[in-house]
Amino acid sequence: MPIEVRPLDAPLGAELLGADLAEPLAAEDAAAIRDALARRLVLVARGQRLSDPQLLAFSRHLGELDPPGPNPYGAPFNKAHPEINVISNVVEDGRPIGNLGAGEAVWHADMTYVEVPPKAAVLHALEVPAAGGGDTWFADMFAACAALPDALRKAAEGKIAVHDASRNSAGLLRRGYREVTDVRETVGARHPLIRTEPGTGRKSLFLGRRPNACVVGMELAESEALLDALWAHAAEPRFAMRHRWQVGDVLMWSNLGVLHRRDPFDPNARRVMHRTQIKGSERIA
Ligand code: SIN
Repeated sequence: MPIEVRPLDAPLGAELLGADLAEPLAAEDAAAIRDALARRLVLVARGQRLSDPQLLAFSRHLGELDPPGPNPYGAPFNKAHPEINVISNVVEDGRPIGNLGAGEAVWHADMTYVEVPPKAAVLHALEVPAAGGGDTWFADMFAACAALPDALRKAAEGKIAVHDASRNSAGLLRRGYREVTDVRETVGARHPLIRTEPGTGRKSLFLGRRPNACVVGMELAESEALLDALWAHAAEPRFAMRHRWQVGDVLMWSNLGVLHRRDPFDPNARRVMHRTQIKGSERIA
């Protein structure tokens, strides 16, 4: 039976029904998933149980794997499969087994501080807090761009922002980076605030993450005001969906088309996710 793509009751997102992602995928199913991801930007398949090699095999249907960026501890969390990142608050023998802890992860897109950012990510829930918490939110940056008020659109058009490489989405300083004390000296890739999707010409807001961002060629106060206005708009609930995790969820998203954030959760509960990332092929323009 072919996989059914059922849109969620939200501005973006769809559920994949009838999918067993642990099994080799038929070419037409893989193509249907890629097509649904391009249209709905976030997809979830519930009730999956993927080993690490199966997660890698499934992820390769979305494109070439992109290894995780540098983590604050300087060594891959998943030594047997370094292409897999571990997102977890669990500490074993005094060492975190994964990234991001139990705190809030602020709105962001992944690794936009590199010249060619990853195009997608896949997150497989292995353990989640029984009492809830740790929900992940996604916001549609095509819809946000289409709904920009005219004055804000004009202010953003043609502008380039610097995307900070120094801190991860939990706010931790990455190994090898120095604290940013003046955002005009932020180190990271430069991308237009409004991206045009190759092939379709669709426009999306491309904001990366707010802390330490700066608009090139603007006075500091002007840059801060423009970024604050764009972020306030992008984070409006009308562009967003919320994912409440269950063990076995495999969730994937378009990293160039959405922002995501995560709620905090009880630090005494266990949350363990295995994550892959798919290489981008596009300089943002
Ligand atoms: C992430 O930002 O990739 C992690 C999201 C999550 O922990 O739900």
